[in-house]
Amino acid sequence: MEAQNFVALAYLVAALLFINALRGLSKHDSAQSGNTSGAIGMGIALVATIWLALDSDPGRGVAVTLILILLALAVGAVIGLRMAQKVGMTEMPQLIALLHSFVGLAAVLVGFNTFLTSAGGYGSTHTFLMGEIFLGVFIGAVTFTGSIIAYLKLSAKMKSAALTLPGRNWLNLVAVVVSVVLMVWFMNTDSVGIGLIPLIIMTIIALALGLHLVAAIGGGDMPVVVSMLNSYSGWAAAAAGFMLQNDLLIITGALVGSSGAYLSYIMCKAMNRSFVSVILGGFGQPTATAEARDYGTHTETSAEEVSTMLSTAKKVVITPGYGMAVAQAQYPVADLTKRLRESGVDVSFGIHPVAGRLPGHMNVLLAEAKVPYDVVYELDEVNDEFSDVDVVLVIGANDTVNPAAEEPGSPIEGMPVLKVWEAKNVIVFKRSMGNAGYAGVENPLFFAENTKMLLGDAKASVDSINAELTVPAN
Ligand code: TAP
Repeated sequence: MEAQNFVALAYLVAALLFINALRGLSKHDSAQSGNTSGAIGMGIALVATIWLALDSDPGRGVAVTLILILLALAVGAVIGLRMAQKVGMTEMPQLIALLHSFVGLAAVLVGFNTFLTSAGGYGSTHTFLMGEIFLGVFIGAVTFTGSIIAYLKLSAKMKSAALTLPGRNWLNLVAVVVSVVLMVWFMNTDSVGIGLIPLIIMTIIALALGLHLVAAIGGGDMPVVVSMLNSYSGWAAAAAGFMLQNDLLIITGALVGSSGAYLSYIMCKAMNRSFVSVILGGFGQPTATAEARDYGTHTETSAEEVSTMLSTAKKVVITPGYGMAVAQAQYPVADLTKRLRESGVDVSFGIHPVAGRLPGHMNVLLAEAKVPYDVVYELDEVNDEFSDVDVVLVIGANDTVNPAAEEPGSPIEGMPVLKVWEAKNVIVFKRSMGNAGYAGVENPLFFAENTKMLLGDAKASVDSINAELTVPAN
């Protein structure tokens, strides 16, 4: 079979496997097979692309091309393997943000390379190619710097609060309008020397725009930003696919771009936000009434008291958050759930759509610890039932259970939260009273009359409750 035909067929199979991967990843029980499907598709795509590169050798010799590809693969594989071994579950979001920045940078480099090697043609094909290059570099540059800021914010190397310049929306608008003018200039020049001028100016503007866009979005809106950058990285890859005339890259980019856009839409809906309001004015903006308040004093409790409370309760709901992931408390939590359920207590989980630092973060941890799926509910499914609940265990959650979201003028005003305070008793697991949640907003729940604080590492606390519990042990 001719290389071109083989590659076309292999790309088709890989594209189908990628679509199957997305389908599988949309449900808990098929996620693993979806992942395998994606990995096989990527393997096929790699082999086919290497074959294509060797077949269309530009004159440097097949051996040199092969050595260059193998070298790049080896460097990538070593870095990738090291990262995969080192990264903890709680560090995944920042790793993903960093990987998005690589896609953005790659699109910028491909754009410049395509321009320098194929500019100077005439007619409509030339204009079309110039448009592709310009858009590819623009999206790539915004994705590159935006993802770096997201990485810094998610890894707490930079404050998560919104950082904005005065006249932020005007600045962004001017950046976009100037870029459109530069695009018209760029598309209408045949000279590489002159064309480089608008391309470089636009790249600098787009790099600054990416920085500014993401730095200005704070706190609770970061999940939408991560999925938005995921989507941008897909469109950047699709643009690179057009420039490199690689069909599979176009299909893969479009799949990532559209699934990321859809995820952003779902997250916005879950957070009661519109996409435009996230981009134009995020949560975490300081507001006039957001000054520190005195909510009174908190009450502390002990593992012994909590275990007694649990063994006499009829209905218990657990609302986990980022702290459960940090403490890796999902295993003792699963153990506690099993024992309470075996002794007749109705135990279920209430999962907020942005609990943790990744979409589905809590679901993954609970599935890993073998908590049955049928006791894990989404926010909408449990939020009207808290008044019937005897005990809520808030394990390492903060923003997602913050009643301040219902206070006018609060920086998280309007964000849907789990109404745990409506339950008869609330136990909050956190390490100290000093730290606020991700959005940096104080939580009045901790000072409520029906709330008791169990301070300490969540895993150690749940272990102690399990040790005190008098219901059946495993
Ligand atoms: P957060 O508001 O981040 O609060 C985490 C809580 O866990 C804090 O109270 C913290 O208090 C506690 N904690 C941390 N380590 C702990 C440990 N070892 N043991 C016990 N407690 C521990 O959590 P959340 O309610 O899950 O909210 C998620 C936030 O992240 C939201 O603002 C969301 O918008 C944002 N975000 C989400 C995503 C996605 S997609 N899920 C992505 C980016 C950002 P101490 O430090 O005192 O222990």
